[in-house]
Amino acid sequence: MTGASEVTEVPEAVRGLSAPAAVPGSRILGVGAYRPARVVPNSEVAEAIDSGDEWIRRRSGIAGRRFAAPDDTVVSMAVAASVKALAQAGIAPGTVDTVLLASMSYREQSPPAAPRVAHGMGAVAAGAMDVGAACAGFCHALATADSLVRSGNSRYVVVVGSERMTDIVDPYDRGTAFLFGDGAGAMVVGPADDPGIGPVVWGSEGDRHEAIAHSAPWPAQGAAAEVTPTLRMDGPAVFRWAVATVPRAARAALTAAGLTVADLAAFVPHQANLRIIDTAADALRLPPHVVVARDVVHTANTSAASVPLAVEELLARGAVPRGGRALLVGFGAGLSHAAQVVVLP
Ligand code: UT7
Repeated sequence: MTGASEVTEVPEAVRGLSAPAAVPGSRILGVGAYRPARVVPNSEVAEAIDSGDEWIRRRSGIAGRRFAAPDDTVVSMAVAASVKALAQAGIAPGTVDTVLLASMSYREQSPPAAPRVAHGMGAVAAGAMDVGAACAGFCHALATADSLVRSGNSRYVVVVGSERMTDIVDPYDRGTAFLFGDGAGAMVVGPADDPGIGPVVWGSEGDRHEAIAHSAPWPAQGAAAEVTPTLRMDGPAVFRWAVATVPRAARAALTAAGLTVADLAAFVPHQANLRIIDTAADALRLPPHVVVARDVVHTANTSAASVPLAVEELLARGAVPRGGRALLVGFGAGLSHAAQVVVLP
């Protein structure tokens, strides 16, 4: 018999692994967006669901959305947004260590999409993985990128949210058909002398996973399936959860970063519904100088792409100062949420 002392003895050779050299902080170096060319007004989606422009605007704030062209894929849109973010950051694609893709509408389980996205942008040797946290996926991936960079494991990380929601939304479902749009947004994260991405506050409620789910699980479709499962949502239940969760997570992210609402330049929650955005903004008692992202009006809900798209929209029209702080909050299916304060590039 072997004695306990012999079993627990650690050979000299496996002691003391080297760790990468940590850096004091990470920051966002560039932001890029891809918005499909086709603008789709409410009138175009309303007929199939016996709805109308007035109802959709009143209940969601949405006036229009973009729909992907046949050759706009989750991968191609992610590549287009990432290339723009890299150009803005002034970072050569070949120096990217890691690519994180957040998407809920990429319809292949394997291979993941991220390696193709990495290859497409020219990050041909980068580690690449898909992040599945639905509409909260971008903020989850951004927190992961921050940790990778600060730990010294990666120097440059591209974080991208890309969605072709028209592939998974049923145009005849009254509860979702008018809500979603297509597009991609990306950010490049790299090392910094001071923290430019605050601590993440995140969580999930797996016991409420049915609040936003597909109409059928993929395995149930079988090999002969002709119809792709589509998204179903208990809208009012998700609405109530969101207006309680977003302000709570937002306050916790501010506290974790050692800041108050007075320190912010922008509030950028997931663009799910203008009523949720405005209710959360009111609950946070934001001072008048804090710009609230309302990209949902013209872009609708682009799930994991909505936060970077909304940030890009604010920066592109000069609504927020470069170097200002933005409070990001992702939330959605899971039910999952993730919030952090970032310094804008
Ligand atoms: O991105 C992931 C996170 N998602 C969200 O955060 C979405 C959260 N939920 C929502 O944004 C809202 O629940 C919706 C915008 C989806 C729906 O708005 P609502 O105010 O919650 O509508 P409702 O489902 O409570 O329906 C209100 C009324 C009902 O009629 P009655 O019972 O009051 O007579 C519905 O039958 O509106 C009717 N209705 C519609 N009417 C015209 C429901 N859908 C439609 C429609 N067009 N598309």
